[in-house]
Amino acid sequence: MLNGKRVLLIVTGGIAAYKTPELVRQLIKAGASVRCVMTKGAEQFVTPLTLSSVSGDKVYTDIFSLTDEHEMGHINLSREADVLLVAPATANTLAKMAHGIADDLATTLLLATDKPVLVAPAMNVRMWEHDATQDNVELLKARHVTMIGPDEGDMACGEWGEGRMSEPADIVASLGAFFDAHAPLKGRKAIVTSGPTVEPIDPVRFIANRSSGKQGHAIAEALRDMGADVTLVSGPVNLPAPSGVNLINIETARDMKAAVDAALPADIAVCAAAVADWRVDSEADQKLKKDNSKDNGGIPTLTMVENPDILAGLSQPGPNRPALVVGFAAETETVIEHARAKLAKKGCDWICANDVSPETGTFGGDANTVHLVSRTGIENWPNQSKRAVARQLAERIGNYFTDLNTSDQVEC
Ligand code: CTP
Repeated sequence: MLNGKRVLLIVTGGIAAYKTPELVRQLIKAGASVRCVMTKGAEQFVTPLTLSSVSGDKVYTDIFSLTDEHEMGHINLSREADVLLVAPATANTLAKMAHGIADDLATTLLLATDKPVLVAPAMNVRMWEHDATQDNVELLKARHVTMIGPDEGDMACGEWGEGRMSEPADIVASLGAFFDAHAPLKGRKAIVTSGPTVEPIDPVRFIANRSSGKQGHAIAEALRDMGADVTLVSGPVNLPAPSGVNLINIETARDMKAAVDAALPADIAVCAAAVADWRVDSEADQKLKKDNSKDNGGIPTLTMVENPDILAGLSQPGPNRPALVVGFAAETETVIEHARAKLAKKGCDWICANDVSPETGTFGGDANTVHLVSRTGIENWPNQSKRAVARQLAERIGNYFTDLNTSDQVEC
């Protein structure tokens, strides 16, 4: 049910922490791998040694521990997980999460993560019913944090009511249901292009562009998180290879096209790469030299030829055409008009139009404002992180295929 899923279990200081070794055992039995983080409070109820023994991994407890940071680094702890599960989640932890307080490893991870977060609250009934806690829960739900429980029943404090942590088996089942609901692209194959292409002039010089690959890589990860089998074809970028994605590194536009063609057939293609439109007609075999004996000082004249248009190629009708082809339009003026023209010219299904004029900081930056343009309309998305853009696009793609399963009539 949880085959291959990587769960980062955050154990906070409630009496229900004594159930977490059993929770870890059941998560592993369901196919997940589990890494644990504990708060100081949690250590009063269950020892790191116990959780380390059942998880078969080191347990992380301290953000200021040089050993912990050296071995893993708190950002990597989240990066290497598919989901963060907080169980038990105390009222105090819920309050910190709701208000962005990061005063230990657990809460710092929760503030820094971009992965889905599920929480299994556990506390006294009156703490659970308190307006402060209920307001915090509503805030967290509005931010797409998923609540598991709490259940009703006898409590360790001798009272009866809502506030018991859900049983480990129910938490595992909720996690399974969560992954099923978030994997609408299971069984679908996706190709994503990302980053710049690099076009050689001679063995040491090249023509390239400022694309960082952040948007394309984030899209590959978001599609993977929704269950797709993703091939990411990327030009040279300074980014870590996304886990669980088939990464193919290329340099030139022609290499990119060859890698994309080799990855076909696919259901989805998203072309986020900033492909060089032109390349030098014939790359010099040897480094071009200055030659002052010539009239023009040996300044070379470069003859350019057009590169293959990968997006247009993918959009051509035919047996290998992906069901959904999405392009990007990097524009510096009249963004929507240019995007509409590009949609028609390239024959793709959707265009994510974005303004890349220098003052927006989009190229190389972490945020983007996208307008999703299709033949039936435009969706104006807010300015948000490239990861959030990626998630919104992946969700949009997920809905497209869910609709495709239920009807032939699809609209953007
Ligand atoms: N694209 C592509 N192959 C190319 C050029 C562009 O696959 N040789 C794709 C990009 O990945 C993007 C879309 O086409 O999805 C639009 O790229 P963009 O650079 O905005 O437009 P161009 O087609 O290059 O047109 P122009 O530079 O004139 O705006």
